[in-house]
Amino acid sequence: MNMGVSWYAVGFLAASVLGATITLSFMPWRTPSTDTDIKSSRIMRTLKRVSAEKQVLEKSACGRVWVTVHSPEIRLGAGGKLLDAIELNWDFSSCSTIPTRIGLFDDRPSSWNNALATYFIGSREGHVVTSISLGIGTLPAGWESSPGLKGPHCLWPWVGAGESQIQSYNCLKIQPTWMEDNAARINRLRIGDLALPGTHNAGAWRFDTEISTVARDSFVLCQDRSIWAQLVHGIRYFDFRIAYYDVYPREEDRYWLNHNLIRVRPLVPLLREIKAFLDSTKEVIFLDAHHFPVGFYQQNGAPIRSVHNGLIRLVQRELGPHLALATQFGTGAGTRGPTLQSLVDADKRLLFSYVDNSIVADNPWLWPILPHLWANTNDPNRLLQYLDRAISTSPQPSARSPMFSAMAQTTPTVLDILFLRGSLRENADAVNRNVTARLTTRWRNQANIVSTDFFLGNDVIDVSIAISTERANWL
Ligand SMILES: *[C@@H]1O[C@H](CO)[C@@H](O)[C@H](O)[C@H]1NC(C)=O
Repeated sequence: MNMGVSWYAVGFLAASVLGATITLSFMPWRTPSTDTDIKSSRIMRTLKRVSAEKQVLEKSACGRVWVTVHSPEIRLGAGGKLLDAIELNWDFSSCSTIPTRIGLFDDRPSSWNNALATYFIGSREGHVVTSISLGIGTLPAGWESSPGLKGPHCLWPWVGAGESQIQSYNCLKIQPTWMEDNAARINRLRIGDLALPGTHNAGAWRFDTEISTVARDSFVLCQDRSIWAQLVHGIRYFDFRIAYYDVYPREEDRYWLNHNLIRVRPLVPLLREIKAFLDSTKEVIFLDAHHFPVGFYQQNGAPIRSVHNGLIRLVQRELGPHLALATQFGTGAGTRGPTLQSLVDADKRLLFSYVDNSIVADNPWLWPILPHLWANTNDPNRLLQYLDRAISTSPQPSARSPMFSAMAQTTPTVLDILFLRGSLRENADAVNRNVTARLTTRWRNQANIVSTDFFLGNDVIDVSIAISTERANWL
């Protein structure tokens, strides 16, 4: 593969996918040379009009820059801590010349004079961790807690790179309506052919129990954004670990999201966040009940039907009108499932997959077990090697589920936890950049869902959107 051409295409796709106009600097009709070149100038006028409507959020003639958030805390002198440090990333591996500078800005980069910090670029690919925190802001364009404006929107941090001039820029974004924004292309794709950003242990983002509201810990919390915020950022697949505690008088209060044996948050409010998002958008969401660590099984491993049925009734009660039934939309084993278009047309935009086949057999509207490619290792190299192989051989030819999820996070061992070696934030930091890089290269053609921890530490959302659009263009 000619990387030069492919990266050019990536930049091009990324720019158009993100609702941006194609940057004029590398288009041949930038300056119509003759008055007779009417067609070109008409295109120019159209582009200018589009540009006025939709501001360019990402631009690059070659290579890419992007903003991420550093998941571990950084210890400063005198006991201080820096949380959520902004990271600036670049990949100019296909470019003939590499920009010399990269900087952090709080608005669209126009001049180095406005940079909050600048750094020298000494390699084709890399990143710097700035000493500036993302801070606690609100979600832009009205999306903080209710539906806002369609299209991608920037949070405050921007990155710019170049020489004396800034040639490439990008911002940290929300992508609340990316499926609708790109519907003309990606709706032709079957769900198994999408590249889809997901979160591992999606509900484990802040304790909400009688005894704790802790937002940061070492080995339980895998995310730091609410389900609503994850959706607004562009996450469309949730891996849920659901537990049942019969100590609560009301049935609906007995269902919790857990990380293994640890209770994190009650389930029903999260279902309501998903409902509010589905009610107000045209997006399609994949909810995966993937593990039932407490209360769903007898000692001998037999499912407790009443507990499973209670969960299923709750999901139907909260999300019923949005549910796309497998009995109606399923396309059979060994296929890639329905197109996005058929789900959007029917206005059935929630697919609920369930990890227990005996329960699916009783409720055939549930989607069957969604395979997780899980390396079960605490070693980043092994994780990546495992996923390289597992993604390239997925889906299995006779798979019952049209989808599969690459679980792109390491798993601490019991000893790691006992001896407090590292933390889930450090583990995420050790793999998230590689995951972004892999998705743009080796996993590009075959990855379906990629689920990560602390997703702001990678660029899986924007890259998945670009790849889905690219796949649709091949149809
Ligand atoms: C992960 O990325 C780093 C650069 O960020 C690289 O040095 C390392 O080799 C990568 N690991 C693997 C297994 O590809």
